[in-house]
Amino acid sequence: LTETIYPSHILQFDLAMAKEWLSQRLSGERFVHSLGAHEKAAELAEKFQLSLEDCRRAAIAGLLHDTAKLLSPSELYGYCDEHGLEVHEIDRQTPQTLHPFVGADMVRRLLHIEDAEVLDAIRYHTTGRAGMSRVEQIVYIADKIEGNTRNPLYVQKVTANLNFRDVRSLDATMRFILDSTITFLIDKSQIIHPRTIEARNDVLARLKKLQSSKA
Ligand SMILES: [Fe+2]
Ligand SMILES: [Fe+2]
Repeated sequence: LTETIYPSHILQFDLAMAKEWLSQRLSGERFVHSLGAHEKAAELAEKFQLSLEDCRRAAIAGLLHDTAKLLSPSELYGYCDEHGLEVHEIDRQTPQTLHPFVGADMVRRLLHIEDAEVLDAIRYHTTGRAGMSRVEQIVYIADKIEGNTRNPLYVQKVTANLNFRDVRSLDATMRFILDSTITFLIDKSQIIHPRTIEARNDVLARLKKLQSSKA
């Protein structure tokens, strides 16, 4: 692949090549999970009737979201140092939140993807953030509910929030996942990344606004 994938070229992106490329980087179950997230993200984007470009963005980011998943914490820090990616103190305490940033940088440099929405959907698939786009939300959700490796009972609870006739049900679905993630982290006495709290407060505010406009 030589051509750089700018937003205007997103429909020409070679998914078959990207799958082959990813299979060299991820082992069995991780690769199967990525294919599941790819299919689920494409399915959600299509069912919510996103634009053709956004459907393709969701499919690409779903496939590539865990590109850096097999790197150890020290390899992730090493990569960030080498390529000038910022690492905050909180990221040192939660190294699993670094693989999305390293992964986004890898696909930018190695697959020449410059599409900001694709890169952001990869960057925020673990913690979420305030003000997520629909593509970011879909990739975040697809990662948690893909059909190949995720717990079917949890998937069922999450998907109960989805209503394909109303794209705003993505906010309710995000809220459900963020709440259950935060509860899980509290139960396990683990650190909660501030971006996860911000993401949760943001969807909560969006949902409250929607409720008050209905009342
Ligand atoms: Fe991940
Ligand atoms: Fe994942």
